Amino acid sequence: MKIAVIGAGVMGHGIAEVFAIYGNSIYLYDKYPEALKKGLNSILWSLQKLKEKGKIEDVDKIYSRIFPINDLQDIEDSELVIEAVPENFDLKSSIFKEVSGIVSKDTLIATNTSSLPISELAKNVVNPSRFLGLHFFNPPVLMKLVEVIKGNETDTSVFNEGIEIVKRIEKIPIPVRKDVIGFVVNRILFRVFTSACRLLNKYTVEEIDSLAKYVLEFPMGVFELLDYTGIDTNYLISNEVKKRGFDFTCNKLKELYEKGFYGTKVGKGFYDWS
Ligand code: CAA
Repeated sequence: MKIAVIGAGVMGHGIAEVFAIYGNSIYLYDKYPEALKKGLNSILWSLQKLKEKGKIEDVDKIYSRIFPINDLQDIEDSELVIEAVPENFDLKSSIFKEVSGIVSKDTLIATNTSSLPISELAKNVVNPSRFLGLHFFNPPVLMKLVEVIKGNETDTSVFNEGIEIVKRIEKIPIPVRKDVIGFVVNRILFRVFTSACRLLNKYTVEEIDSLAKYVLEFPMGVFELLDYTGIDTNYLISNEVKKRGFDFTCNKLKELYEKGFYGTKVGKGFYDWS
């Protein structure tokens, strides 16, 4: 399948990598050359790791399926477009308007949004019946689940096609038929983050994370996960969902965001990763 991934950040480059592993041909677009370069380096690092573990054979062959581009017009012949730009409604809306004017009206257009209603985003495309949510988890190459979300106007055949696409990359689809804020996973995760955040006036980051890891047996502590998925991403999500009546604000998250402490990617967040 010919797939365009829009945005080479934390999620975009991982999504491109997964589809390339399964033989698809990928256009990886980012407006910022530095972000594109960083994304490509992360893909190479990850592919080499997978090869060391015997999970893939030929790094070069997989990598050669990824075509980095910085002109959106190049995605014209894509059969599927997956948007993975930062969690900002206006930004995503403008991308969809542009993409929709380039690709055929039969192209499937998907968003990797974590929090925004699919039906609201669909208003920006020419053919909303072929628009859906494909929500991956970080890191896409290792996480098994992908939420497939049906917007109000998504055609049932398109929703089913989304489920099949997820199965073809050997992930487990979670069908989400009701377009609610946070879908299924983040609806739960938002509450976990907010509860942990409220405990910060009584316990330390390390104490709460130890409890999450060693008592609840989470693979990562709650604050570790926030650093890993990105303080910026989570802060932007909290703003967007707040506008839609879902309050999971956290003062500490805001404070870190304003200082530019975006988590592991910059070496500082709730923890010092440097
Ligand atoms: N590609 C290839 N290999 C990778 C990798 C990647 N992207 N990321 C990590 N690895 C490798 C590590 O380098 C490590 O290799 P070595 O054994 O050679 O050192 C190996 O995988 C195992 O990694 P770790 O030792 O760090 O730890 P782990 O066994 O705990 O696995 C993990 C890592 C899968 C990320 C695990 O910690 C985990 O499941 N964490 C929770 C992640 C999660 O919940 N993600 C969802 C967040 S929510 C979200 O994404 C959506 C949203 O809307 C915000």
